[in-house]
Amino acid sequence: MAMIIDGKTISGQIKDELKEKAARKREAGVNITLAVIQVGADPASSVYVRNKKKGCEYIGIGSEAYELPEQTTQEELLRLIDELNHKEEINGILVQLPLPSHIDEDTVIRAIDPKKDVDGFHPQSVGALCIGQPGFVSCTPAGIIQLLKRSGITIEGKECVVLGRSNIVGKPMAILLLRENATVTIAHSRTQNLKEVTKRADILIVAIGKPKMITADYIKEGAVVIDVGINRDESGKLCGDVDFESAASVCSAITPVPGGVGPMTIAMLLNNCMESADL
Ligand code: GUN
Repeated sequence: MAMIIDGKTISGQIKDELKEKAARKREAGVNITLAVIQVGADPASSVYVRNKKKGCEYIGIGSEAYELPEQTTQEELLRLIDELNHKEEINGILVQLPLPSHIDEDTVIRAIDPKKDVDGFHPQSVGALCIGQPGFVSCTPAGIIQLLKRSGITIEGKECVVLGRSNIVGKPMAILLLRENATVTIAHSRTQNLKEVTKRADILIVAIGKPKMITADYIKEGAVVIDVGINRDESGKLCGDVDFESAASVCSAITPVPGGVGPMTIAMLLNNCMESADL
């Protein structure tokens, strides 16, 4: 039977470590504050934003929420970001995505001071990651590395296949695995002979955005399977991009949805907030 990689427990350990660090910083007179900006009232975004605030409370750092109306203009949003960039008491700035269609996400991300870019989405952060220099790393891929390491799974030398090539998950994931000395393949929706490619993987990371797409026949016997997907199935239940029951019959370890990768993203965001205080 496959080992279940428990993201809830592992993220809990990380948050407890951060709680201690935050207390030590407070004693030294260092207070950390994250600014979270949400434009509009997308229900899924509201849940994420609430959980981010709760995470800050839990580890004992401050958070400021900016809930802006849907019709906020790009100029107004850029003005707020500029203000927060210059506010010394704000260490991290997070603009919840997606933004309404009249606002250009790239322009907004570029406006955030890279020293406060706790999401790791700024081109300077991404560039630094690519050439192995210090900078903030995108939270979900950083969380996956922690999940693997803290579950005792060796990355070095392994064949890793990342299914999905988004700027937020697939691409930074591949770079992080490379940094851990894995052999990395990025596959995607246009990859030919996809099953042959995914079956090479010792570690298969799935972020393709298709509910339950990956079944046992995509997976090598004994592989480790990390499921980044969050979808709803026909009956409205949360499910990943991996068909859990089918995959668990061949793999050696697997993340569940929910309770796998999801909780790690916030833990790594909080970790980035802690690091932002040292810049
Ligand atoms: N929307 C979905 N995931 C994320 C995330 O990690 N950061 C931001 N800013 N928006 C998101």
